[in-house]
Amino acid sequence: MACQGKLSLHVLLALFVLLSSCKANPRSKTEAEALLRWKESLPDQPTLKSWVAHTNSSASSPCKWRGITCNNEGSITEINLAYAGLRGNLQNLNFSSFPNLLHLDLSVNKLTGTIPTNIGTLSKLQYLDLSTNSLNGSLPLSLANLTQVYQLDFSLNNISGGLDRRLFPDGTSLSKTGLLSLKIFVLQYTKLGGRIPEEIGNLKYLVVMALDWNYFCGPIPPSIGNLSDLTTLILNQNEFSGQIPVSFGTLKLTHLYLLMNRLSGSVPEEIVNLSSLVTLHLAQNNFTGHLPQQVCQGGHLVNFSAAFNNFTGPIPVSLKYCRTLYRVRLEHNQLTGYIDQDFGVYPNLTYIDLSYNRLQGKLSPNWAECQNLTVLRVAGNLISGKIPNEIVQLSKMGYLDLSSNQLSGEIPVEIGKLSKLLKLILKDNKLSGEVPAGIGGLSNLDSLDLSINMLGGPIPGQIGDCWKLQSLSLSKNYLNGTIPNQIGNLRALQDLDLSFNSLMGGIPPQLGSLPVLECLNLSNNNLNGLVPTSLGSMMSLISINLSNNNLEGPLPDGKIFRSSTTGDFSNNKDLCSGIKGLQPCNASVKNEGVGNMKSKLAIIFVASFVGAISLSITFVGIFLYLKRKHSKNMMKVESTSNSKNPFSIWYFDGKTVYKDIVEASESFDDKYCIGAGGTAKVYKVEILGAQVFAVKKPRSMAEGTESEIIKSFTSELAALTKIRHRNIVKLFGFCFQDVHSFLVYEFMERGSLANMLCSEEGAKELDWPTRIRVVKSVAYALSYMHHDCVPPIIHRDISSKNILLSSDLVAYVSDFGTARFLKPDSSNWTTIAGTYGYLAPELAYTMAVTEKCDVYSFGVLVLEVLMGKHPGELITNLNSPTSTSAPLKDVLDDRLSPPKSLKIADELALVQNLALFCLRANPQSRPTMCSVCRQLEKQVATS
Ligand SMILES: *[C@@H]1O[C@H](CO)[C@@H](O)[C@H](O)[C@H]1NC(C)=O
Ligand SMILES: *[C@@H]1O[C@H](CO)[C@@H](O)[C@H](O)[C@H]1NC(C)=O
Ligand SMILES: *[C@@H]1O[C@H](CO)[C@@H](O)[C@H](O)[C@H]1NC(C)=O
Ligand SMILES: *[C@@H]1O[C@H](CO)[C@@H](O)[C@H](O)[C@H]1NC(C)=O
Ligand SMILES: *[C@@H]1O[C@H](CO)[C@@H](O)[C@H](O)[C@H]1NC(C)=O
Repeated sequence: MACQGKLSLHVLLALFVLLSSCKANPRSKTEAEALLRWKESLPDQPTLKSWVAHTNSSASSPCKWRGITCNNEGSITEINLAYAGLRGNLQNLNFSSFPNLLHLDLSVNKLTGTIPTNIGTLSKLQYLDLSTNSLNGSLPLSLANLTQVYQLDFSLNNISGGLDRRLFPDGTSLSKTGLLSLKIFVLQYTKLGGRIPEEIGNLKYLVVMALDWNYFCGPIPPSIGNLSDLTTLILNQNEFSGQIPVSFGTLKLTHLYLLMNRLSGSVPEEIVNLSSLVTLHLAQNNFTGHLPQQVCQGGHLVNFSAAFNNFTGPIPVSLKYCRTLYRVRLEHNQLTGYIDQDFGVYPNLTYIDLSYNRLQGKLSPNWAECQNLTVLRVAGNLISGKIPNEIVQLSKMGYLDLSSNQLSGEIPVEIGKLSKLLKLILKDNKLSGEVPAGIGGLSNLDSLDLSINMLGGPIPGQIGDCWKLQSLSLSKNYLNGTIPNQIGNLRALQDLDLSFNSLMGGIPPQLGSLPVLECLNLSNNNLNGLVPTSLGSMMSLISINLSNNNLEGPLPDGKIFRSSTTGDFSNNKDLCSGIKGLQPCNASVKNEGVGNMKSKLAIIFVASFVGAISLSITFVGIFLYLKRKHSKNMMKVESTSNSKNPFSIWYFDGKTVYKDIVEASESFDDKYCIGAGGTAKVYKVEILGAQVFAVKKPRSMAEGTESEIIKSFTSELAALTKIRHRNIVKLFGFCFQDVHSFLVYEFMERGSLANMLCSEEGAKELDWPTRIRVVKSVAYALSYMHHDCVPPIIHRDISSKNILLSSDLVAYVSDFGTARFLKPDSSNWTTIAGTYGYLAPELAYTMAVTEKCDVYSFGVLVLEVLMGKHPGELITNLNSPTSTSAPLKDVLDDRLSPPKSLKIADELALVQNLALFCLRANPQSRPTMCSVCRQLEKQVATS
């Protein structure tokens, strides 16, 4: 409705303009002067170039100026300067000079200061949009005089202060309203208080009111209930308290956004009168009592969220037949009811989360008829009965979480049909039977958690077909048989937990070839035999637990076995090792010593460079994808002749450097290897009289055909070599040749940030000012990649392993192995890449990688830098309503003494807050890296 009104107004105005001959009159002269006076008060504004007084003063009509529209008397009716890059404030804009102004749009600029009181003199104004600026102060009371306004938008400003440190999952798709789709969030600090004046109720023609993303507090004025035309009320992300006014019951609202405030009490039953409701967002408040039972009475409800409140009582009866539902979030309340009786069939439903309530009953086969469902989460309820076999018909399902219920019976045999499934979480139930072999059909699965059930039988070898698995937990079941060798095929696996089962036989040596495995728990089984030596060479392993088995013989040599404690190996048959507490091995049992010296040397290098290299997952992903895609038509691509310069792109003189590298590394002898992953090895290569390089040699490229495939990346890699930024590891060049294919990077003396933070001395060396510098450097690098590169580059695997440090502890972003270009016309198709624990939550249910995924990973990284370790559970806890962000002192790395200067403490607080904003579950509400950088700079400037 608002749109139509606006449109016809435009047409009308356009007609007026056409008809009007631009004759100057005294009115337009005053108006022009008022505009020019404002322009003069602003810093240089290229967009207002056309705003100049004509030399012939009688012709100084502003009607042709940019953004200005007049009526046929030549008086200004419209000022539209949205997206004009305006800086400065409104104090010198004399609103009383524009008695005929109908439309004022200054949205998406950089205006600061307060809203002048004399805005109330625009008595004919119908449309006012000052959204997405940096205005502050409070709403002037004089707004009450703008009685003709139908659209009022102040969203995304700083009106009324107080820094909101809370962090929330989204629950929203605000862009649906069309109003908010393009807005850029800018984090600001102001400290004023402010309420919406009761007089807002005078604006009797209001249709749309948006005050979201500000710092309004106090109660929502009941007078809003007088606004009988109001259809859209957007008050989310403020600090409103008190109850929803009962007077709302008389409104005709279609969209009501109240999420993320401090509202309490029960939702008035009168809200059932809102029979046109399409969107109702109540999430993240402190509501109690029952949900409005007739919330879908009008039969239009599409988007309903009441998550993270204290609602009790039954699921609203009207939801059962609410076929329009598209997205429903009711998680984290205390709702009761029967999941098989209270819900119906929703053809359009894509997302429903009912987790952590008190729902009972069984899962109805009806859910299978919600064919558009991609996310179904009902964790933490009292659901019993079997998982209906029909559930395998949900062909779009990406995330199925039924954990912590009382489900019994078997896992559906045909579960493998859910081929889009990314996460299958069934832990903590009473499931019995065997793990179905069909599970191998879940070729997109990245997390599988069947732990804490009563599953028996063997682990099917087909699990090795779930080649994207990053996390696999089958612990605390009754599984028997041996560990299938095929688990060694899971090249992306980072976490493997098979503990507390009855597994027998030996540990398959293939586990040692899992290139990125970080945690391995095989404890509390009946495993016997020797610990395979291959486990000793696992570079990525951070923790291992083999206790309570029947293992015997010497532990292999290797980083992990030296840094573990005896507890990780206790209660076995006869394990021996140099580890203090274990019995030492007698010399004759010791396994082959050939080349031991060499591998030790390599390991020492690696220890100082651990994790700097994690090409693996994505290269596998890209290769396999391309292999599939191109295997038919790629074969004809012939290899370029070897006699030419072997370097496809090279920063220096390619031919000689190629030779030098091969020579200096003695044809890539292992003694130069400083790290190895599943698909790549990295060598430190020192060319005499030149530089030291890190040379990354993808393993699979040595084998011919795939080197053809990699050629299709040539142009992208070529662009990467052109990146020049002081905080990005330089890719000097790459070379694809049958014998030696490799990429050549700048060498970083201090290895990875992960490694520095791991060690006591490293952590101490990284004092608070240095850590702040590290955060800034990464922010600058990402901002550069996102905003200054054409096309923009998304890194996709920001983690502490991919931040390298130079000798003077300057941070560099490395490893674009996973970066792909965000081409405006490409679909951003991707296999899930990146490091477990840093992945943005939306990747759980969408394949679209945007730069906001990097922003999320950056948030994780920042917390890690502050805490000295990966924030882990803290991130999930941040999403719970009761936790405001933890006080800074509680999370800071305690290996450093607390910051002494106030300046540093302030900066740390800012950095922490920025991290929290980056970790918002809704990608759209995360800041851009550009605005993160601006905030970081501002702090420097003002401190
Ligand atoms: C509204 O306008 C009237 C008449 O012009 C004026 O007397 C009054 O002060 C204005 N109200 C506010 C709050 O500015
Ligand atoms: C929910 O209610 C419980 C007690 O009924 C209270 O302890 C808790 O703080 C409430 N949670 C919120 C978010 O208000
Ligand atoms: C929620 O409300 C309860 C009482 O209803 C109060 O004790 C609690 O502090 C409130 N929680 C928040 C986060 O406002
Ligand atoms: C489902 O969505 C489509 C497209 O938005 C819409 O046309 C249709 O009416 C919806 N179906 C129901 C039952 O609401
Ligand atoms: C599912 O979504 C599509 C659009 O993505 C829509 O056209 C369709 O109506 C929805 N419902 C069903 C049952 O497919």
